[in-house]
Amino acid sequence: MTRVAVIGGGRIGEALIAGLLESGRAAKDLVVVETHADRAELIGDRFGVRVTDSIADAIVGADVLVIAVKPGDVDTVLTQVGKAELDADRDQILVSLAAGVPTARLENKLPAGFPVVRVMPNTPMLVGQGMSVLAPGRYARPEQLTQVTELLAAVGKVATVTEAQMDAVTAVSGSGPAYFFLVVEAMVDAGVGLGLTRDVATELVVQTMLGSAALLESSGQTAAELRAAVTSPAGTTAAAVRELERGGVRSAFLEALHAAKQRSAEQGANDGAGGSAS
Ligand SMILES: NC(=O)c1ccc[n+]([C@@H]2O[C@H](COP(=O)([O-])OP(=O)(O)OC[C@H]3O[C@@H](n4cnc5c(N)ncnc54)[C@H](OP(=O)(O)O)[C@@H]3O)[C@@H](O)[C@H]2O)c1
Repeated sequence: MTRVAVIGGGRIGEALIAGLLESGRAAKDLVVVETHADRAELIGDRFGVRVTDSIADAIVGADVLVIAVKPGDVDTVLTQVGKAELDADRDQILVSLAAGVPTARLENKLPAGFPVVRVMPNTPMLVGQGMSVLAPGRYARPEQLTQVTELLAAVGKVATVTEAQMDAVTAVSGSGPAYFFLVVEAMVDAGVGLGLTRDVATELVVQTMLGSAALLESSGQTAAELRAAVTSPAGTTAAAVRELERGGVRSAFLEALHAAKQRSAEQGANDGAGGSAS
């Protein structure tokens, strides 16, 4: 079984630990490195896993080293990993979940030829419904990518792209949950404006979103086909869609994702500063 060291037991690290343990994809003895004393205690109590504040200690015997700290803390972690005694007998790989940190920057801080893979996760990972997108570095081997893919499948779906596509991925799935929440907020407010209580409006919107996503995933039809199916001629949906188009909703999304991609590229170019959690 794959032995995993998770460096950073924050929100994303915790989601990964929970998913890995629940799915049985990692050994129960997976180890967590956490420098924040309260978080360390909480992770240890909640999951019964070994928690240490020493990276050198954690990576002994680990196959996969996962970095789940904020982008600004990545360099410190890499320096410590670089100084530690890496296990030459193991096929170790470093997986970085930090937004906007290119694989070359990871590779440059590690011993020559050390395999790395960069991953853009998203927050639905917290409930096992994440979208993790992998971009392999120069030295990651196919069997290692399979291993990382299987691990991340514990917290949702996994796809692989080239690193050049990572800024687009950040704009679509990394930041995507925020667009969704914004639409939900707007629909709930509109429902309240139409006389529903906030609780009722929220229940209606959330279930409509959940049901629509499930239908889209299982029906084999495109979003455009499903929308057409609920848009009867001169009906209520047609009236609403007309207003949305008049308000420029489609072009607003095009521009928004373009801006997110651009911002991601700027953050990646700003070497050392890293990005925020997309
Ligand atoms: N695409 C997305 O939507 C998305 C969402 C979330 C996260 N991410 C990425 O996932 C990563 C983790 O984010 P997060 O929200 O989980 O961050 P977080 O909650 O701040 O968790 C990071 C944890 O790591 C600890 N830490 C910092 N330096 C450390 C070190 N040298 N050794 C061990 N532990 C250390 C921090 O402790 P202190 O508090 O004491 O510093 C903190 O508890 C980020 O790089 C982010 O870019 C992406």
